[in-house]
Amino acid sequence: MTVALAKFRVIVGALTLLVMALGAQPVSAQQPTSVNPQASAVKEEQLFQELNRISGRCTLPDQKACTIEQPAGRDWRHFHEVTLRWIGGLVIIGILAVLLVFYLWRGMVRIESGRSGRTIVRFNAFERFVHWMTATCFIILALSGLNITFGRPLLLPLIGADTFTAWSQWAKYAHNYLSFPFTIGVFLIFLIWIAGNIPNRVDLEWLKRGGGIVGHDHPPAYRFNAGQKMIYWIVVLGGGAVAVTGYMLMFPFYGTDIASMQAAQISHAVVAVLFIAAMIGHIYIGTVGMEGAFEAMGSGAVDLNWAREHHNLWLEEESVRTGSNETRRQPAATPAE
Ligand code: HEM
Repeated sequence: MTVALAKFRVIVGALTLLVMALGAQPVSAQQPTSVNPQASAVKEEQLFQELNRISGRCTLPDQKACTIEQPAGRDWRHFHEVTLRWIGGLVIIGILAVLLVFYLWRGMVRIESGRSGRTIVRFNAFERFVHWMTATCFIILALSGLNITFGRPLLLPLIGADTFTAWSQWAKYAHNYLSFPFTIGVFLIFLIWIAGNIPNRVDLEWLKRGGGIVGHDHPPAYRFNAGQKMIYWIVVLGGGAVAVTGYMLMFPFYGTDIASMQAAQISHAVVAVLFIAAMIGHIYIGTVGMEGAFEAMGSGAVDLNWAREHHNLWLEEESVRTGSNETRRQPAATPAE
């Protein structure tokens, strides 16, 4: 009995020592992690690294404002500040360089048979009005849009903060308001010229023969050749795309979330710079690239020999339609026609 009592006392003593030893551990080790400021900071840092996101609760009515940083936002910012500037710079400077080299090599495409001194109406007053309205809006939209992409790094250091702010504000108004006549113009262009812009077999032949621009050939063409048809479809589809994505940006979060707003901005900007490059090519051909072309949209009438060399099938159609015999009266047609 005495031995059993002694064993019991040893066990109780050992347990008491164990409890005391546990009780003697550092204070921090006993505290729950939620109240330890250092431990929670570590968790926040880990969380940020894992999710790449800083968001919380806020009292602003627009709850999207409570997300301060998120991965897609950072990717978008990188696109806008870096990638887009590279794409835009390369595409626009690239097309200008290609056209300069092409011009130095080929020079202006001349009316080979010389001017006849007689003209034929190519575009009526309404067509020219629609063209110039859309073109004017396009140029202002392009310059005011490029200001959003390149203004800060290129223009701000040159003109100073005050002038840049005033100009950017006006540019933004112009971009917003001219979008409406531009959209109407693209829609009218779609309607008035669709009939002449459906691709056909003549276009393949025209393309195979380099359109008469690369060499000195005059492949047959109706009212619009394959090159002009490409421009038409770039304007209709590109114009449609910048209009849809542009209105998504102008009226944010109407049926869109942050992801689709970012997609709209990326598509708008990329289509816009490609569109600008295509229009620089179009302006080149319409001015210094080809003799007699500007008159078509200037006065609306082109020289008969120009029409014969570049749009012989259209000239034939017009001769039949108007009952004149213009195509026969001038025997300067090249063998290709
Ligand atoms: C219906 C037609 C259009 C609408 C509604 C529209 C609308 C917009 C809007 C709302 C923005 C964002 C502006 C901002 O961030 O404050 C924008 C940006 C831009 N737009 Fe347009 N736009 C149109 C046509 C065009 C055209 C025709 C071009 C080019 C020729 C163009 C080029 C640009 C460019 C380069 C940007 C800047 C992209 C960036 O750096 O974020 N836009 N547009």
